[in-house]
Amino acid sequence: MRLLYSRFPTRYSCHAPTFLHLSSVDKPDSSPVLIAIDGPAASGKSSVARTLAARLGYGYVNSGAFYRAVTWFVLEQGVDPNDSAPVADLLEKARVNCWLQDGASIITFDGIDPEPHLRESRINSYVSTVASIPEIRTGLTGKLRDLAASQNTVMEGRDIGSAVFPRTPYKFYIDASPEVRAMRRQLQEGGGPQHDQILARDYTDSTRRTSPLVIAEDAHVIDSSRLTIDGVVGEIIGRLKLKGLAVGG
Ligand code: CDP
Ligand code: CDP
Repeated sequence: MRLLYSRFPTRYSCHAPTFLHLSSVDKPDSSPVLIAIDGPAASGKSSVARTLAARLGYGYVNSGAFYRAVTWFVLEQGVDPNDSAPVADLLEKARVNCWLQDGASIITFDGIDPEPHLRESRINSYVSTVASIPEIRTGLTGKLRDLAASQNTVMEGRDIGSAVFPRTPYKFYIDASPEVRAMRRQLQEGGGPQHDQILARDYTDSTRRTSPLVIAEDAHVIDSSRLTIDGVVGEIIGRLKLKGLAVGG
């Protein structure tokens, strides 16, 4: 069996100090706070997580952007995203760096930041396929843990509360009806033809074998269908206060 996990970190370097990847049960009380926000596509995760992080003065990590960035790199290199072994090999050999800057996360491949390309329709089409490759998930999970090791962080994605930080007591799952989510994405895309097949992505994300999109047992679920971004953030802050987290205000 290939031990890709042990080889990933040598190339998958991260600028944040790398501590041992301890689960929070092993961490001292002074460990940084990690607020996990998961949910399906266009449920409002990014808007809510970014606003929450700004209000709390925490770092903000959009883990979906990392999966999108890997997908961009795979496509740019001409590797078939459906062929998991060459995809894993490509990423193992690439020079991948990530860091937090002005509170937000950045990832580069051989020095190139693919950020302007992350919402392209080809990325929407293949990202869930690439994200279902276990070696890719293992490599990115390590990087995400490194990023949050040294500062309080709000991190959003699909498996943050269930797999990346399963021991954090601060887990939220944001949902909205499929109709509302489709409308939000369409508006976001400027009213053009809807390229982002969000329900297809949700299906692939929920049915993959490795860390699928699930509602963590101890997550607080928020249906945002009829809520504004500030409304969702307010509900999260209220919940954090109830849990005894010092969030000000
Ligand atoms: O913004 P949107 O919800 O449409 O997607 P995203 O958060 O940018 O995530 C893009 C894709 O990355 C998802 O459809 C998943 O396939 C993958 N992803 C994942 O597998 N695990 C994560 N923690 C975050 C994203
Ligand atoms: O990150 P995710 O794909 O879950 O969603 P998003 O990119 O944060 O939000 C998708 C779109 O819905 C954005 O244009 C948001 O401004 C909008 N939105 C909204 O109208 N109401 C909410 N409660 C949340 C998001």
